[in-house]
Amino acid sequence: MEIIITDNYAEMSKVSAQIISHEIQKRHDLVLGLATGDTPVGTYKELVKIHQKEGLDFSKVKSFNLDEYVGLAPLHKNSYNYFMWENLFKHININPENVYIPQGNTDDPEEFCLWYEEQIKKAGGINLQVLGIGGDGHIAFNEPGSSFASRTRVKALVKQTIDDNARFFDNVEDVPRFAITMGVGTILEARKILLIASGEKKAEVCAQFIEGPVTSQITATALQLHNYATVILDKGAASKLTRTEYYNWVRDNKQLIQKQVGR
Ligand code: GLP
Repeated sequence: MEIIITDNYAEMSKVSAQIISHEIQKRHDLVLGLATGDTPVGTYKELVKIHQKEGLDFSKVKSFNLDEYVGLAPLHKNSYNYFMWENLFKHININPENVYIPQGNTDDPEEFCLWYEEQIKKAGGINLQVLGIGGDGHIAFNEPGSSFASRTRVKALVKQTIDDNARFFDNVEDVPRFAITMGVGTILEARKILLIASGEKKAEVCAQFIEGPVTSQITATALQLHNYATVILDKGAASKLTRTEYYNWVRDNKQLIQKQVGR
């Protein structure tokens, strides 16, 4: 895992948007996995800026979102579909036919999950998967105990996640109890992974998933098994890491390292 520590949220957002933009420039038909939550909002704003000012072209990009609440229609204001259109898609030139988001109000979730996996496969797999991290260490909605082999499926949310995400709803009772989510196994198949995290409230869980043992109790630790995962943290989220000096040395000597490892 490559760990990049930035001074603040704004810089975290800029650096992550630059990485995504660079991948799109290298490959116009990039298959991009996308995340929701507060954390990526700044990254999406930066991507919109790059699109508007530098003409970053999304017309051939395909996107697959990680997850969606079961029971919410795509136009519901708390749906992840709504979030994605408000925060990113309506501001860029992505082709709506290339946008894939799990359908929360599908009649047949099981069938839908199989179909979703099939679409990822048909697209040639995900080139770059963007992730946030939940307070309990989940990626997408892979709650503690999710198998590292899990695929897209319906997952019951734990109380901490329901409480954490209640801030987006009028009251906690309105938070759906289930979500359709890509599995840890689905995420691990992405060729590159970019996880972003911000703020001291994520510091403990970031230290656990970056420097602690691999465990399905903290599904983000699965990234330790991936061969191309980058983590961008702001100072708050990085405040409980113990190997900061090393990570910063690597960040500051990247050109030297690129020469050595060709990455
Ligand atoms: C939800 C999403 C995750 C996201 C997490 C953290 O649970 N399913 O994909 O990473 O929230 O959200 P935030 O960035 O708001 O802390």
